[in-house]
Amino acid sequence: CRVRHYRFNVVTKNSTKLCSSKSILTVNGKFPGPTIYAREDDTVLVRVVNHVKHNVSVHWHGIRQLRTGWSDGPAYITQCPIQPGQNFVYNFTITGQRGTLLWHAHINWLRSTIHGALIILPKLGVPYPFPTPHKEKVIVLGEWWKSDTEAVINEALNSGLAPNVSDAHTINGHPGPLANCSSQDGFKLPVESGKTYLLRIINAALNEELFFKIAGHNLTIVEVDAAYVKPFQIDTIVIAPGQTTNALVTADKKPGKYLVAASPFMDSPVAVDNLTVTATLHYTGTLSNAPTTLTAPPPPNATQVANNFITSLRSLNSKKYPAKVPLTVDHSLFFTVGLGITPCQTCTAAANGSRVVASINNVTFVMPTFALLQAHYFNINGVFTTDFPGNPPQAFNYSGTPPANLQTTNGTKLYRLAYNSTVQLVLQDTGIIAPENHPVHLHGFNFFVVGRGIGNYNPKKDPKNFNIVDPVERNTVGVPSGGWTAIRFQADNPGVWFLHCHLEVHTTWGLKMAFLVDNGKGINESLIPPPNDLPKC
Ligand code: C2O
Repeated sequence: CRVRHYRFNVVTKNSTKLCSSKSILTVNGKFPGPTIYAREDDTVLVRVVNHVKHNVSVHWHGIRQLRTGWSDGPAYITQCPIQPGQNFVYNFTITGQRGTLLWHAHINWLRSTIHGALIILPKLGVPYPFPTPHKEKVIVLGEWWKSDTEAVINEALNSGLAPNVSDAHTINGHPGPLANCSSQDGFKLPVESGKTYLLRIINAALNEELFFKIAGHNLTIVEVDAAYVKPFQIDTIVIAPGQTTNALVTADKKPGKYLVAASPFMDSPVAVDNLTVTATLHYTGTLSNAPTTLTAPPPPNATQVANNFITSLRSLNSKKYPAKVPLTVDHSLFFTVGLGITPCQTCTAAANGSRVVASINNVTFVMPTFALLQAHYFNINGVFTTDFPGNPPQAFNYSGTPPANLQTTNGTKLYRLAYNSTVQLVLQDTGIIAPENHPVHLHGFNFFVVGRGIGNYNPKKDPKNFNIVDPVERNTVGVPSGGWTAIRFQADNPGVWFLHCHLEVHTTWGLKMAFLVDNGKGINESLIPPPNDLPKC
């Protein structure tokens, strides 16, 4: 194994898209940012240098960070942000993972333009558990705003209303020919006839779950969230912000040009966004004939198309890559996740005296102003409490009408897990307003998705149908609109680990909490000491 060094200069860059120009925050002047390559067991050192006027921090989304919680990156959770003019070296070793992940800024909405791919190749000499592709291509799906995203969310918070949606979706930074002024700005994916390609697909968008398909070609899914799956074929995938999917595609069709499309999945009666971005897959050496018509991308509410993909996912669970599903449960938790409204005197008239808030078990998480991990490690009192409830205040019963107790309490509350204990967490969407999937991401762990259903979770019946043999292993999972998802993981990583909806607007509204994993003898014995250059608040 090797040590891989990267330098990330956070710099502004002028960019013109959709006939308008603005200055964006980037890493090394790139959108999407540079790809990090490493092999399993390698150590990765990334020096992040802040040359801009904003505080920044970078998260290595899906990297386990075993005993290196200091390098996880969420601002005020594991570290204070890197201030203008300062730098910090993220230092982590990749253990037991291989596949595609992403890195992104983890403060406010800066990840809209500060993100990129993180590719973990198998150990040297270890083949993939699927046919070796001719070539590999990274496909980063994103969004483009004409306005500054910090302004977008700040305006929304002041008014009490939902923020605007983006002006375009992007594939590897290109808004594609369907977007305004972008007829020439489409991503092109050249392929050789007869060859097989591995697409490493990443959803780096802030707020959109996306369908992705290539006209006329099936995708063979081989991995999600850096964990191998049993290969299966499908024509459309669904991918939430923070999720990654590796798919093989073979150029076995009539040589020509084929449309590639990414379009929103809203799972809601009213889609607030239906912008499709297209790219072109073209067979090299063919004449520049027009792309074959796309079998139309699914409509935003094509829940069945999404379910076909989601329910096909199984861990590879081979001898070499067994699914280590916890079979016993030490902590059995039930979290309601959802949006609600709260009175607001200062909001604009259009908001009708209320603002949108989000909560888990009726707790709206309040961001601290000091990093939780440091507060824990150095025993600094008053930064957080450990009374996050393991169950909602009243038994949840979704009947389509809002239950009485919608009030939320505010707090920086953590839930304490014993080191190495096993956890079962049922995430129940309240579906009360804005029915929409919540892609919930857990830092520091991979978890197994043992069950999923629509309606109310039934603790007596539903566990009987849990898959504890080969459930898919992920770091981000969609909680279906008006339904539930059950996950299991082993709390084998000491530290403070954020759990939140990866739709950034929901995180902002408070759909987040953190676990404190602790060996009971003081975390100091199991976590490496904090690095000397750890940023100060
Ligand atoms: Cu990819 Cu806490 O985020």
